[in-house]
Amino acid sequence: MSQLLTPVRIGRYVVPNRLVMAPMTRSRADSDGVPSELTVTYYAQRASAGLIITEGVFPSAMGKGYVHTPGIETEAQVAAWKKVTEAVHARGGRIFMQLMHCGRVSHPSLLGGATPVAPSAIRPEGQAWTTAGQVDFVTPRELSVAEIADVVDDYRQATRRAMAAGFDGVELHGASGYLPEQFLSSSSNQRQDQYGGPVENRARFVLEVLAAMVAEAGADRVGIKISPEMNYNSITDATPQETYAYLVDHLRGQGLAYLHVALFGAKFDFHALLRPRFDGAYLMGGGLTQDSAESALAEGKADATVFGSAFLANPDLPERFRVGAALNAPDRNTFFAPPTAQGYIDYPALAAVEAA
Ligand SMILES: Cc1cc2nc3c(=O)[nH]c(=O)nc-3n(C[C@H](O)[C@H](O)[C@H](O)COP(=O)(O)O)c2cc1C
Repeated sequence: MSQLLTPVRIGRYVVPNRLVMAPMTRSRADSDGVPSELTVTYYAQRASAGLIITEGVFPSAMGKGYVHTPGIETEAQVAAWKKVTEAVHARGGRIFMQLMHCGRVSHPSLLGGATPVAPSAIRPEGQAWTTAGQVDFVTPRELSVAEIADVVDDYRQATRRAMAAGFDGVELHGASGYLPEQFLSSSSNQRQDQYGGPVENRARFVLEVLAAMVAEAGADRVGIKISPEMNYNSITDATPQETYAYLVDHLRGQGLAYLHVALFGAKFDFHALLRPRFDGAYLMGGGLTQDSAESALAEGKADATVFGSAFLANPDLPERFRVGAALNAPDRNTFFAPPTAQGYIDYPALAAVEAA
């Protein structure tokens, strides 16, 4: 029997199905990081997800890492997001905001000329996406201990603003080589102080940020996403099993809403390592199909399953799974395409297909 379409508790909420829409950057905000009416439509179209997690949103201007990504720092940004949450709620959906501070995965041209910040002054390999196209990453500036406290406070204030904008909760983006993972991972963190070295120091920033988010939203409205061994944005950790086991051991007992683990080509089964260590809802993601998601749920490997590109291309994904309908194929050319509707709000829902 299908479990995908059965209710499940995620923190404070019982949601109607176990299909979570993955956080996906779509680069459709204006140059001030304000989402548009298109974004309201895009998320409202996908409100039948058990839970929507928004695209990565920068908590402060220094957290921006890509052109045309949205923020949650200014009044205009809060007002625009309020329209999104109202539209999703009007359709009976739930929506968490993902807070994404890119750290060194950025460029001065995205930061008003400022140098990107990181735990250590180590330049990532690769290129940033800027208004001038792709340009090489620069060497970031090492954050002082006092500045780290300020960044933690930025997340706290961003959480407060997200809740004021009507979000049901917030997710910390702890994956993909952005600032939290830059602290966690040995290749990007070579600090000698209480934020670097052994795992209890490298995990300190992530735990402090989560505590700040919890203080504003309540633990049962806070989740975290991790992707061990994804090695995206030129990041590696020497002992990922030890690092993530330590981290999740310290997430346990806090009453967090969920742990979201997305795996991409990891050689080791991190789900088997991490799920038993966590006491809230376990969200599994990364390359799932309807069949593999059903199997994971049936085998008790996850409480809910996270779909990215399939949700991007199928606004009515739960209904398509219910009736066994064919899926629209995602068009990679329009994943990031400021600020066009094409490939954003024009993927047809089933009824629209049948009516055509
Ligand atoms: C267009 C696109 C943008 C993404 N942006 C983000 C992001 O902002 N934050 C994040 O945590 N993951 C991001 N991801 C990764 C997804 O959340 C998800 O983990 C990934 O797509 C795997 O799920 P899938 O195989 O079902 O697509 C993005 C993925 C895609 C396709």
